[in-house]
Amino acid sequence: MPEQARRRAVVGNWKMYKTHAEAESYFADLLPRVKDTSVEVDLAVPFTLIQMAAQLTSGTKIRIGAQNMNDASEGAFTGEIAARMLVEAGAKFVILGHSERRRLFGETDALVNRKLKQALQNSLEPILCVGETLAERQDGKTHEVLERQIKEGLAGIPPEQLDKLYIAYEPVWAIGAGKTAAPQIAEEAHTFIRQSLTTLTEPQMASRTILLYGGSVHPRNSGALLEQPNVDGLLVGGASLSPELFGQIVNAFHTSPLGKDT
Ligand code: PGA
Repeated sequence: MPEQARRRAVVGNWKMYKTHAEAESYFADLLPRVKDTSVEVDLAVPFTLIQMAAQLTSGTKIRIGAQNMNDASEGAFTGEIAARMLVEAGAKFVILGHSERRRLFGETDALVNRKLKQALQNSLEPILCVGETLAERQDGKTHEVLERQIKEGLAGIPPEQLDKLYIAYEPVWAIGAGKTAAPQIAEEAHTFIRQSLTTLTEPQMASRTILLYGGSVHPRNSGALLEQPNVDGLLVGGASLSPELFGQIVNAFHTSPLGKDT
């Protein structure tokens, strides 16, 4: 399949920010900024905002998703949330295995794999996050870490479901650090990820998986990142909290010299 057939997406991750009132004024500001875009615009909001955000954005280009979920379909798991509850609230996708979940909440590759299967069973599109720490990069272990996170994260997933999947390469040293990976570093990691995927499925299928880059994405670096052939989109944390900055990043697709929105 030719490269331009892959979907292009900008995904915002609000993390633990925004109340109802703040979300309402955010969408009022963002919607006119992105109304003419031809790329997919996704926002992963806190659980309490999913339903209202889905209603406020219904009929627009914006899709709403979640930042986490439990790996069971239901049960006595106090404080947890199931995939089908997210779907009912209006979520279309879910971020899984974010490095903050792995580091602060002890999520393992095996748990992320179970969550991924649960998401797919419920028709929620998973965004699998992978990425190395600074120490792992300095020790020359970047490829080893990425390969393990991908192989274990995707173990047992039928190849035909891989086109429902996004993989976000988020070097841990770049997240929230104001330090973005140089475009060539992002491209090198994305190329490696795509190669690793070909060992799990046919090359044609691997060429359809959407690869996002995340880690201190900002309007000042988004254009250069999007010029890389294997960077299909961006996962944006801090800058997605501002409708102005997020709108500029979405519109960077259209100003990128390679015209990747075509
Ligand atoms: P950041 O976060 O853009 O603030 O670095 C990215 C992420 O954690 O997904």
